[in-house]
Amino acid sequence: MCGIVGYIGQKKATDVCVAGLKRLEYRGYDSAGVAVAGDGKLDVLKVVGKLDRLIDALDESPLDSTCGIGHTRWATHGKPSKTNSHPHLSNDGLIAVVHNGIIENYARLRDELKAEGVEFLSETDTEVIAHLVRKYYEGDLAAAVQRASQDLEGAFALGVVAGDQPDLMVAARRFSPLVIGIGEGENFIASDMGAIRQFTDKVYVIDDDEMAVVKRDGITLSDMDGNPVEREAYVIPWPAEAAQKGGHKHFMHKEIHEQPRAMRECLLGRLSDPNASITLESLNMTADEIKGLRKIVFTACGTAYHAGLVGRFLMEKLARIPSECDLAAELRARNPVVLDNTLAIIVSQSGETADTLVALRELKEKGAKVISVVNVVDSSIARESDGVVYIQAGPEIGVASTKAYTLQILTIALIAAHFADVRGATPEEDLVALREAMLSLPELAQTLLDREDDVKAVAAKYFESPNALYLGRGVNLATAMEGALKLKEISYIHAEGYSAGEMKHGPIALVEPSLVTVAIAVKGDVYEKMIGNIQEIKARSGPVIGVAFDGDTEIPRQADDVIWVPECPELVSPITIAIPLQILAYHIADMKGCHIDQPRNLAKTVTVE
Ligand code: M6R
Repeated sequence: MCGIVGYIGQKKATDVCVAGLKRLEYRGYDSAGVAVAGDGKLDVLKVVGKLDRLIDALDESPLDSTCGIGHTRWATHGKPSKTNSHPHLSNDGLIAVVHNGIIENYARLRDELKAEGVEFLSETDTEVIAHLVRKYYEGDLAAAVQRASQDLEGAFALGVVAGDQPDLMVAARRFSPLVIGIGEGENFIASDMGAIRQFTDKVYVIDDDEMAVVKRDGITLSDMDGNPVEREAYVIPWPAEAAQKGGHKHFMHKEIHEQPRAMRECLLGRLSDPNASITLESLNMTADEIKGLRKIVFTACGTAYHAGLVGRFLMEKLARIPSECDLAAELRARNPVVLDNTLAIIVSQSGETADTLVALRELKEKGAKVISVVNVVDSSIARESDGVVYIQAGPEIGVASTKAYTLQILTIALIAAHFADVRGATPEEDLVALREAMLSLPELAQTLLDREDDVKAVAAKYFESPNALYLGRGVNLATAMEGALKLKEISYIHAEGYSAGEMKHGPIALVEPSLVTVAIAVKGDVYEKMIGNIQEIKARSGPVIGVAFDGDTEIPRQADDVIWVPECPELVSPITIAIPLQILAYHIADMKGCHIDQPRNLAKTVTVE
């Protein structure tokens, strides 16, 4: 969501903060600001808009301190404006705070502070924190942050500096991600390892209700009661360059093209021989536990939810375990029934999505065993799970999730095939064929990427369409939903992903020449029915882009255009088909001149409910 970076060392703090924030801009980008400590006071600079504006402002009015905090904002309380942007200050300008999260009791705290004479300038929830820290500050910043945290309800990752203390920063966390970067003669605060990987590969991952006092020559960790916390440093496993565009126009494009390599890494050490069983040690489940499972509940948000929908299908088909898939934001509302031997599978790229984390806690509390399918190592969701299978996608920076999606499905497919094997629920020859298909995916993905220009030509024909419908059935209903999500989030074209079978129950009324339909019609269980659905659309003058397996002779006769996909077993086709649909959305958005890596109103990681 919002991005936080803090620096204390020998360098100019604003240079480090801005370089770090640049890597976090994908989290939120409607305003940005910095505050630096020195000479008994704080200097602050804030701008509305993207980070480049802050860079320009700092060129005009440089701030020279070597201790400071910075922030990029994704508005939750109060519109994007200079006053609402962070850092927020106490009335006397002595304390500055950057915050990611939401303070749920801010209205009550604001009223109490107002009654004590505090003047509020912004509409944000964060401002109460600056005033609270000031209220408790008597020369010991850590003690003041600790005391203020006791009054706060909700989620926060905080960076705090005081004008009269240029030799330290204080950071604190409850429910929102926070790491402390370890340097030599310098140290860092960040809401994401990616922000500071360019400066260090060692971090302390801060837990809920913990805080850190960060000085040039040392870092002290404690809980919120001041008890010391011992923690081993975590070494970030990916190189600094992994968070750069590497010659691609956008991160999204780079990440689409990383899929063959990422798939190989995901398979590595887990599946290498189609005739051998899959190894998933980090799953942390015994054969008896797997055999005893009565129900699986997938839960996730957005693209990860679509991966969960595919997961539900695979689990029922292969492992024959009754499965559900819930939108994480809706799960709690329906008070789900958790039977004995229920497994929750939590899917999340970031591992920090607030709705998903809340759903995890709900399911755990009700007695489910929880495993997660996560990308970001040591993220909150990974840490709170009983077992975790990392998707091994490497950093995903583009707001539109691409490689994480295909890798989430691949990882879930590995789990489903493993469960099927252990439970004896699928004939061995079918499992061998499935494992072979999974092993061939990196090559198939490369073939699809090599066909990018063909998909781009289709994009050129339709990029001005105002509306789009994505239709699928069976295991590829989720693919249709994901295709539509990709298009709408980066191109702003209204798109719906729908069950082709449901068309005739209402949405067919929308069909007319300006509505383009993408119909997923690959050979398999639902192929004939999909052909019938395409004919229904053509009969009503709707243009159709068919997605078909190579060599199909029927779809080119029915559809106006065809996106070709190499033939593969239907159960892994959601992985391959997703790739041209990502490419289609990417080029349509690019042709429309959209901000592909930072679409309006969106943040990469949604750390508020
Ligand atoms: O980090 P997560 O996988 O938990 O994020 C879930 C969604 O916020 C995310 O997939 C979102 O829908 C993306 N913008 C989709 O491209």
